Amino acid sequence: MNRVIAIDGPAGAGKSTVAKILARRLGLRYLDTGAMYRAVALLATRAGLQPEDGAEAARLAEQAEITFGHGDPQPVLVNGEDITSLIRTPEISELASALSAHSALRQVLVARQKELIQTGDWILEGRDTTTVVAPHATVKVFLTASLEERAKRRSLELGREDVSELTRMISERDHRDYTREDSPLTMSPDAHRLETFGLSAEEVANRIAALLP
Ligand code: DC
Repeated sequence: MNRVIAIDGPAGAGKSTVAKILARRLGLRYLDTGAMYRAVALLATRAGLQPEDGAEAARLAEQAEITFGHGDPQPVLVNGEDITSLIRTPEISELASALSAHSALRQVLVARQKELIQTGDWILEGRDTTTVVAPHATVKVFLTASLEERAKRRSLELGREDVSELTRMISERDHRDYTREDSPLTMSPDAHRLETFGLSAEEVANRIAALLP
């Protein structure tokens, strides 16, 4: 069986940083499932879609080829175009979160993600990887950190000083991610909860590595 590590948790909990460290250290391929929702949000913006246009967004997703390159940040390509930096804006974060509530879109992306992780050893992260995409993962982790801590980290990452605005945005996104009907962010009963307060990314990675059989 493939070796798969699945990490879920709210925005800003440090999932990507930790997943990249473990991917490098353990020789796993890295799947950033959120980047796929972001890629569709970019296509939706270009097509003039609104947050409620789930069916159209699903159609765009079906037609789009979303691929990942190698590097840090990991290059994200849609139909061959490098969109890595274009999908990290606050507007795309908002739209990706809103569109991800539509089941039609989730079905398309989840099917692709499930297919991808059949093909080797992977570490994947997102909101439903431990519950829906990889329920049989070798190790499942739910990363947490307080809202204040996550906003502080985002502010450092993005080089922005408006921590209170970032706090408001993350809190709105949390609300949407936790309350949507289809696959809301929840902790799988067999996932290990890991509070990251006061831990470096390396320390979090060490703790997850220690969970591997
Ligand atoms: O992880 P991220 O912040 O890049 O994800 C962007 C949005 O995509 C997030 O607010 C919710 C959605 N998402 C999702 O619904 N399911 C996933 N597995 C990953 C992301």
